[in-house]
Amino acid sequence: MNAQTTQSTAKELPGTSGWPLVGHIPDISRKGLFEMIASHRETLGDIFRFRLGKKEMVVLIHPEHIKHTYLTHRDNYRKDEAYDNIRILVGDGLLTVQDEQWRHRRRTMQPAFHRDSIIAMTEEMKDATLDLLKEWEPRFKADQSVDIYSEMMHVTLDIIGRTLFNLRLNDKADRSAEAFSIALEHISERGNNLFNLPLSVPTPGNIRFRRSIELLDKLVYDIIEDRRKNDKEHHDLLEMLLKATDEHGELLTQKTIRDELVTMFLAGHETTAIALSWTWYLLSQHPEVEAKLHKEWEEVLQGRPATADDLPNLPYSKMVFQEAMRLYSPVWSGGRNAVADDMIDGYHINAGSIVVICPYFTHRHPDFWEDPERFWPERFSPENSKGRHKFAYVPFSVGPRMCIGNHFSTFEAQILLPTIGQKYRFTLDPAHKVEKNFQITLRPKHGLYMFPHPRT
Ligand code: HEM
Repeated sequence: MNAQTTQSTAKELPGTSGWPLVGHIPDISRKGLFEMIASHRETLGDIFRFRLGKKEMVVLIHPEHIKHTYLTHRDNYRKDEAYDNIRILVGDGLLTVQDEQWRHRRRTMQPAFHRDSIIAMTEEMKDATLDLLKEWEPRFKADQSVDIYSEMMHVTLDIIGRTLFNLRLNDKADRSAEAFSIALEHISERGNNLFNLPLSVPTPGNIRFRRSIELLDKLVYDIIEDRRKNDKEHHDLLEMLLKATDEHGELLTQKTIRDELVTMFLAGHETTAIALSWTWYLLSQHPEVEAKLHKEWEEVLQGRPATADDLPNLPYSKMVFQEAMRLYSPVWSGGRNAVADDMIDGYHINAGSIVVICPYFTHRHPDFWEDPERFWPERFSPENSKGRHKFAYVPFSVGPRMCIGNHFSTFEAQILLPTIGQKYRFTLDPAHKVEKNFQITLRPKHGLYMFPHPRT
């Protein structure tokens, strides 16, 4: 679009310029991006800007803005420098690559995520959950609270290993989950700081980060090596990647396979663990929802673990999970770089701007959600969903780059919640302070300490 045309007809984008030269960089470093957005959203509305040095950051909240950037004008909104920090960890995997490289890679990996492939994985999801319950039995005491977030991280990592790579992480699961956690926290902080020392500078944070990457690299390269030595035929994502070619017809390199494995481990376990943790928390705060959920489980399952055949008969379990992700969207924001000048909703967007899409606020938008702060799973019933804007609910994003694991994680939740929930009720430890931590993902800041009560 011609810059002069758009600028002359455009409305003025509401926003603030912050401090001379640096703009809002010091505010974001001090308060974090979420606080900056939250404090401006009240007064500035659905679309507004901040200045970061010479660059502009444009925040988008309206569902039509999401449609514009992720779908209708997606070629103008790219994962360039907005994804640089994540690239330090995952390299060039499906989450970060672009253009023909991305198209080819997505086509290659998509079959592993077809509905039927995931249905076949639900048996492993159930077995991993049963193993977790077995492991909890001697360890859990009703008078000792446990960090449910860390337990969920453990089981979701185990599930990715089993389902996508035919692998039992066993004793490696805790160390790997911790390494992911350290690495993710570090890159989130780098994202918030905007001015960062190079990773080669031996600050305590950089050293911890580099150690966690070394551990993850070793884990992943060992997995690849072990599989190469193994003659047995496997029908999993790792096998697919080992046989796959790139967009030039060459076999994928060891580094590319490493990047895809790290991407899948990371994108596939932390987000789901967060969504499940917040679900347990919300259930502990809403006994009426918990009671209704138990009624569904009692009617359909009568104490046995859930299987793929049960999924269509567990609609309320799905609604509870959807509603938890509305309020606590694990990926609370998404960044893109505007390539050329553009116009969104009558406002001029400068080429080079960083665009931040904010599902956390879209999911609470009063024009699309009645009583938005209320935890009310019934809002996702077919009758209550009728007429809702298609892009008012986007926990998995939308458009071609939407999450490849959306069915995977929804099925996983529908298996795991009843299988665990029929054995234990969790109540919040009153000594534990629940706080949201808006990093790249929306984690519980100090974990989520809850008392486990065995159900009889
Ligand atoms: C509740 C769980 C999950 C949530 C909320 C979630 C959310 C998202 C979101 C919002 C994106 C888009 C990011 C962007 O374009 O900026 C995404 C992409 C992605 N997710 Fe998920 N995700 C979840 C589970 C999973 C699982 C289980 C896997 C894999 C097993 C996975 C793998 C990926 C990958 C590889 C991408 C990049 C896709 C592409 O660009 O083609 N995610 N996810």
